[in-house]
Amino acid sequence: MKEQLNAIHERARAELARIDSLEKLDALRVKFLGKKGELTALLKQMGGLSAEERPKMGQLANEIRQNIESMLSSKIQELEERAVQREIESMPEFDLSMPANLSRGSYHPITLVQRECERIFKSMGFTVEDYSEVVSDYECFESLNIPQHHPARDMQDTYYLENGQLLKSQTSAAQNAIYKKYREGLIRHGVPIKAIFPGRCFRNEATDACHENTFFQMEGVMVDRNISISNLIYFMKTMLSEVFRKDIRVRLRPGFFPFVEPGFELDISCLICGGEGCPSCKHSGWLELCPCGMIHPEVLKAGGIDPEEYTGFAFGLGLTRLAMMKYGIKDIRDMNSANLKGLSQFTDDE
Ligand code: FA5
Repeated sequence: MKEQLNAIHERARAELARIDSLEKLDALRVKFLGKKGELTALLKQMGGLSAEERPKMGQLANEIRQNIESMLSSKIQELEERAVQREIESMPEFDLSMPANLSRGSYHPITLVQRECERIFKSMGFTVEDYSEVVSDYECFESLNIPQHHPARDMQDTYYLENGQLLKSQTSAAQNAIYKKYREGLIRHGVPIKAIFPGRCFRNEATDACHENTFFQMEGVMVDRNISISNLIYFMKTMLSEVFRKDIRVRLRPGFFPFVEPGFELDISCLICGGEGCPSCKHSGWLELCPCGMIHPEVLKAGGIDPEEYTGFAFGLGLTRLAMMKYGIKDIRDMNSANLKGLSQFTDDE
């Protein structure tokens, strides 16, 4: 058994040296250390050893397991460093060092992405609404089923004015007013409500490559009889395939927001690193882009809509992150830097 254990150790070492991606590394971990892995299979045969041999082999097997685990973690670190290096070396689509084209003004990448989304949603019958940046606590939280002292507020600490108003931390803050506006027939005539409302949001946030304290979201809501999750998925897919004009990997996972039930997180595979992990996606390979869900009955009620009769979906698209992915901008902080060299690259087709 000693020879077999040593052979597994050597094979793991040799195969590990040839690994060049995190996916392959995971497969290798399963192959050697998994429940049905080689080492585990060998350990199952220990029952046949003598009482004297068994503890010795057990100890050796443990040492080998620990050694393989430590080789695996060094390899993970090496692969992550290599990915960052590759990212730095790859030709960026967005180059801060390019000379500025100052002969004429240019649109900000967020404006371009916002207009593109507006065009797509307008073509599907949505209206585009505007809403203020300074809102009340009721609009931003209470009407969204987030009462005072609800823990969901912790995730959205924002900037408060002396009069108790606040800078909106999410475009969802406009939902209540828009339901009421529709209900009163100010926009079209009540339901079905199909509206998007892009806007600037603010959060008291520690900034990094994918978090800013000032960023843009675009909220979308659709309320009518018999609206279901299938409608939500259809609109999300249509919007993303139109924006990127190519197939992108998307994943939907459960997410909690007090104003939707059920709620989802919609992530897209990071287009900066191709899903391998980089600072822009916090090394996860995925970027949280568009949380969404079915509007909570209490939220409909607060907006004057009868939840017994109507259902709806809502989503909150991270417009700034979408612009990063679309234009290959690696650090969100470049978006607010007002660097003309960078911004002038986005001017051409408008
Ligand atoms: C919300 O703000 C919810 N209002 C979204 C929602 C709407 C859920 C409707 C359900 C129904 P969240 O905090 O996850 O959720 O932000 C939504 C998106 O905004 C994120 O996925 C991300 O793309 C973007 N975002 C959030 N915080 C930041 C930040 N600090 N910097 C840049 N983008 C951000």
